[in-house]
Amino acid sequence: MSRYAYVAGRYLPQAEAAVPIEDRGYQFADGVYEVIAVEDGRLIDAGPHLKRLDRSLNELRIPRPMGDRALGIVLRRVVALNRVRRGMVYLQISRGVAPRDHAFPREVQPQLVVTAKRLTLQPPHLVEAGVRVVTIPDLRWARCDIKSIALLPNVMGKQAAREAGAYEAWQIDRDGNVTEGTSSNAWIVTAGGSLVTRPAGNEILNGITRTVVLELVRELGLAFEQRAFSTAEALAAREAFLTSTTSHVLAVTRIDDMPVGDGVPGAFTKALRQRYLAHLAAGSGR
Ligand SMILES: Cc1ncc(COP(=O)(O)O)c(C=O)c1O
Repeated sequence: MSRYAYVAGRYLPQAEAAVPIEDRGYQFADGVYEVIAVEDGRLIDAGPHLKRLDRSLNELRIPRPMGDRALGIVLRRVVALNRVRRGMVYLQISRGVAPRDHAFPREVQPQLVVTAKRLTLQPPHLVEAGVRVVTIPDLRWARCDIKSIALLPNVMGKQAAREAGAYEAWQIDRDGNVTEGTSSNAWIVTAGGSLVTRPAGNEILNGITRTVVLELVRELGLAFEQRAFSTAEALAAREAFLTSTTSHVLAVTRIDDMPVGDGVPGAFTKALRQRYLAHLAAGSGR
């Protein structure tokens, strides 16, 4: 089955869909994106994703190409054209096409591109055994809160993980603290049983999965702290896990080849994962 994309106002077979070479996304990484999960053909947490998209656009002063309603129609149409029941929809908005010049063009026509693809749930062995992460220096800029398409350090980091046979790389700031993964947020459960994740500031992307998990944690009445934690603290933790739209809640059982806790997914992580999967199954229309 051929895949379809939305580009420059048209729905096209992906093989025919293209953006001009002077698109500022292509030349300057001057754009933002979102990845929204699809479950049973429905968009999950579309509201918070579109709110974060607005925030990213505002921070970069990129005008919005269309309102929420029209954007929702485009996203759903691309999901339907690609017959995605479970998977993800990807949307990217660049500052548009203009003769190459670093400063903003006088007239900006933002360029929206939307694609969608099917995904299966994570392989059971990853869920059962948990995943390995490696630590790498965080080389990114000072506005990681913006979901920008400038992802070179994330790309290099994920490749370093791949080459080390790990699932993800946790980025470490100058103080020796974990910021986040290259495409996920990082969490630990301390020996004392408290859940810890870094507060949403400029150093991390405030994951939508992260905010949903924090709500679930509140509902469950569990203790949590939003503060930075070091690699040493993560290694001394009882449990560790990562969260993202496509990985959900996934146990981290080894960091730099050393076990976390007993080296197997812990009870806290498993319970949160189940709660999160129930949230997906309910197809939250927030
Ligand atoms: C750097 C980074 N942190 C965290 C996340 C997790 O965000 P979300 O839960 O919204 O998928 C992502 C997702 O792509 C990411 O790229």
